[in-house]
Amino acid sequence: MRQVNVLYLNEGETLAYPILDANGRILLTTGVKLTNLYIQKIRSLGVDMVLVEDDRLADVVIHMPVTPRTKEAAYQALKSVRNCLETNRSISTKELREVIKRMISDLLNFEGVLGYVSDFRGFDEFTFHHSVNTTIFALILGIATGYSESKLLEFGIGVLMHDIGKFKIPSVLLNKIDKLTEAEFEEIKRHAIYGYEILRTIGDFGLISAHVALQHHERWDGSGYPRGLKGTAINEYARIAGIADVYEALTSKKIYNDAIEPYQAHEYITAHSGILFEPKLINIFSQRISIYPAGSGVLLSNGQRGNVIKQNVGYPARPYIRALYQEDEPLHPPVEYNLVELPSLLIIGTENY
Ligand SMILES: [Fe+2]
Repeated sequence: MRQVNVLYLNEGETLAYPILDANGRILLTTGVKLTNLYIQKIRSLGVDMVLVEDDRLADVVIHMPVTPRTKEAAYQALKSVRNCLETNRSISTKELREVIKRMISDLLNFEGVLGYVSDFRGFDEFTFHHSVNTTIFALILGIATGYSESKLLEFGIGVLMHDIGKFKIPSVLLNKIDKLTEAEFEEIKRHAIYGYEILRTIGDFGLISAHVALQHHERWDGSGYPRGLKGTAINEYARIAGIADVYEALTSKKIYNDAIEPYQAHEYITAHSGILFEPKLINIFSQRISIYPAGSGVLLSNGQRGNVIKQNVGYPARPYIRALYQEDEPLHPPVEYNLVELPSLLIIGTENY
């Protein structure tokens, strides 16, 4: 299968992975042949990238780190939380615990470098999509840090709830397309404190989960909020959650801005090692989150273009590539490279065809 930007989709191409609507319902399923009408619909949903079938890349398998059923359960659990808040009922953490356990079990079975978290879904009105994906990234970092399963559970619940305070912020502010005024930005920033208060007072969340909500915008150099904490004064769970939160926000499309490519988000995060983020955690991040997902298109320094077919664990910038074109001429047969073995051959750009 091949990853393609929705702007470059062609009529007649076949979907290789389902597209879901904002509520997690399957809108277009695997095997559907795309018509112009479908393509317009996909673009209007806010989906960025989709996977299509491609005979030349038929053997490329894209592993999703958690199963669609686990993701669905996570969405349902977040919906229950929202209902409790809307009706002033206490939040039961039982369902959340079950969901996090399922996520951990899926992730412990998932090997290698994480390429995909996106589930090809349009944006939702609340922050479900962001919360679930951030939790997946964070748990991967937690696992790589060596957390025990009980620690992962405590950590995972905190991350899944990290933006719960946004519930108290008017959605017109959260989705505002124009530049925020200073007062509006200050109000949005308050979601960290609101989240802490909600988790402290409603349901049986541990204090540590509440601290993830409170501190996920604190930054290593003290430039974050709400308290401007520095370095290890920030709780470690919140330090990891902060990295996962920023990476997820950069790579997913929002109502008010487009996503940037995974390699650009990767560059942003690693460039801020020791500034916004803890260096030790950024080293783990670099090894565990792929820069060029399997199936994505790349341009090589020898003028050839092709797609990523496999990751090299520990070397996210140097995956296996199958080159399909020399400039614009198709290569017969395609040529394969393991970039770890070819230090002089570089990826110099990405392709979205
Ligand atoms: Fe936040």
